[in-house]
Amino acid sequence: MAEKLPKIPLHVAFIMDGNGRWARARGLPRLKGHEAGADAVRRVMGYCRDWGIRYLTLYAFSTENWSRPALEVAGLMKLLMVFLRNNERELHEHRVRLRVIGRRADLPAAVVRQITRVEAATAGYDGGTLILALSYSGRSELAQAARRIAEEVAAGTLKPDSISEATVAAHLYAPDIPDPDLIVRTSGEFRLSNFLLWQAAYSELVVTPVLWPDFGADDFRAALEAYAERDRRFGGIGGGDALPEGRNT
Ligand code: FPP
Repeated sequence: MAEKLPKIPLHVAFIMDGNGRWARARGLPRLKGHEAGADAVRRVMGYCRDWGIRYLTLYAFSTENWSRPALEVAGLMKLLMVFLRNNERELHEHRVRLRVIGRRADLPAAVVRQITRVEAATAGYDGGTLILALSYSGRSELAQAARRIAEEVAAGTLKPDSISEATVAAHLYAPDIPDPDLIVRTSGEFRLSNFLLWQAAYSELVVTPVLWPDFGADDFRAALEAYAERDRRFGGIGGGDALPEGRNT
């Protein structure tokens, strides 16, 4: 059982980086690194349960990742299918809801069928939410929000002068999910890489040199400890719990 920390994030998001370097260090093909990365995903889902974290978002495939060699892309898609097949029972057992954010029309039909089925099968669960970002980019999420807002304006159902931060937030992929309190990036790079650009406005960032496949319970605890020590002021002067306009956490 995890020991107590003064505060625990409601929502943790991961930029899972370093699978390729993990494989290269062992003289293995890159896909072996992604397979080890999928094992790390399973472990991290368990840590979230242990620590009572309600929302876990994983940057599993970015829109930029389509430019990788076809074999690696196909391998990642297959791995995703295998992951869902192998872990669906665990989602049911712990009443975890699956959500997917991203350009799902880009994904192979078999992947879309699988995620749509698991999303529907877990839709009523309240034991936590696993959010997979697939063919995701923050800029493309904002562009699709702008497109949908423009369509409503053109249809006469929305007035331009009524568009606020809340309007934009309501047109994101998963508007009901609270913004991440903590974003962790593995393998040492200090970049957001087009991840949750709107939602990350007030997120605390933790970067660890650990490669994603090696990310373990101690690394998870260290990230939570770093978060617990931060003083989140949301642009104010601190000492209060007030949230700025548009913040839902
Ligand atoms: C970045 O490592 C990782 C990815 C592009 C894919 C992440 C995928 C997984 C962790 C496995 C499958 C996911 C699920 C949810 C089952 P990289 O390849 O860019 O590593 P590198 O920078 O060291 O080359």
